[in-house]
Amino acid sequence: MPSLATLDELDVAGKRVVLRLDLNVPMKDGEVSDLTRIERAVPTLRELRAKGATVVVLSHFGRPKGKVVAEMSLAPVAPALSRAIFAPVQFVATNWHDGKAAEVAGSLRPGDVALMENTRFHPGEEANDAQFAAVLAGLGDVYVDDAFSCAHRAHASTEGIAHLLPSAAGRAMQAEIEALQKALESPERPLAAVVGGAKISTKLDLIGNLLGLADTIIIGGAMANTFLAAEGHEVGKSLKEADLYDNAREIMRDAAGRDRTLLLPSDVVVAAEFSAGAAHRSVDVNAVGPEDMILDIGPASVAAVEKAFAVARTLVWNGPFGAFELAPFDAGTVATAKAAARLTKEGRLVSVAGGGDTVAALNRAGVAGDFTYVSTAGGAFLEWLEGKALPGVAILMTQG
Ligand code: 3PG
Ligand code: MG
Repeated sequence: MPSLATLDELDVAGKRVVLRLDLNVPMKDGEVSDLTRIERAVPTLRELRAKGATVVVLSHFGRPKGKVVAEMSLAPVAPALSRAIFAPVQFVATNWHDGKAAEVAGSLRPGDVALMENTRFHPGEEANDAQFAAVLAGLGDVYVDDAFSCAHRAHASTEGIAHLLPSAAGRAMQAEIEALQKALESPERPLAAVVGGAKISTKLDLIGNLLGLADTIIIGGAMANTFLAAEGHEVGKSLKEADLYDNAREIMRDAAGRDRTLLLPSDVVVAAEFSAGAAHRSVDVNAVGPEDMILDIGPASVAAVEKAFAVARTLVWNGPFGAFELAPFDAGTVATAKAAARLTKEGRLVSVAGGGDTVAALNRAGVAGDFTYVSTAGGAFLEWLEGKALPGVAILMTQG
């Protein structure tokens, strides 16, 4: 069985470690506005420093497309990283052509931490160019990847470099992969999956893969409107994808053929417009009017979802049930998230959530801390749910 190389197998004592983090963090007014990804990096950074390693941190930020873009500098992230680890973090401003990265990396002492400028300032990063990978590998003796949320990218700092140095996953990446394996590869059954969000078009592969894995698939968000419309229900002015009705029908047929439960809303919350406090009512899915806009699931659907959670032993959650950004249309997402959190706390459910808006939705419900595991990954989490091999993970697998 291939297994993930971790910090238990990689000798880092006294070594220069090139550490890939995902510091592609939300910023507001020049400050980091959500510290989650930084906080997740702390255990690995602490362990490396405690073992006497020197740490050269690499990350991308935004999508500068191979050029130096001042607004996409990682400079403002260095102080936040420093505060998180209670140690200085030297920021290295480099355009990746001036040799500064190697110069500073060579001058570091055991325990020092340096953060290099955005790797995507160099075109070789996204191209996974062998020469640029060699430049990055030259900054250290070993490579540690703690950026699961970048593992779906085969870039120089996430994949190319791992061909060139002894490599292992950091603790956050290890925990993330273990949680996903537990939920999807060897789940305690029944396995329930929530697939929410606006569009089916972005989740066709994911639903297809889940049909082979999950016992129950619960559809939420505007995506459910497309299913309802495909079944012939009036959905009024609701968001929907009319060109995907055939796909929706095929998914429903496929689920029935495999004896999977595909749970769609039986009632919905509708309003004439999506605005805060808009006049709204709960109606049966057969009673949606031509002027109505579906913005959340209704109370009967919430109860049905809670029932599905109660009989499940494992839950994978991606995407919200309604337009949770605006009250009262967050009610379905909040109620069901709280139910999952309660079952998890009672030890009756293993719950893993991630991808896109999911973390924000769980934070809105105040329960992100009560799930078994909440992934900070967007695209990487989705690709994992799609059953795809992630290049940044594959390269860290050892045969043994
Ligand atoms: C993310 O925030 O999703 C990751 O950092 C990956 O960023 P990317 O989508 O620009 O590759
Ligand atoms: Mg992304």
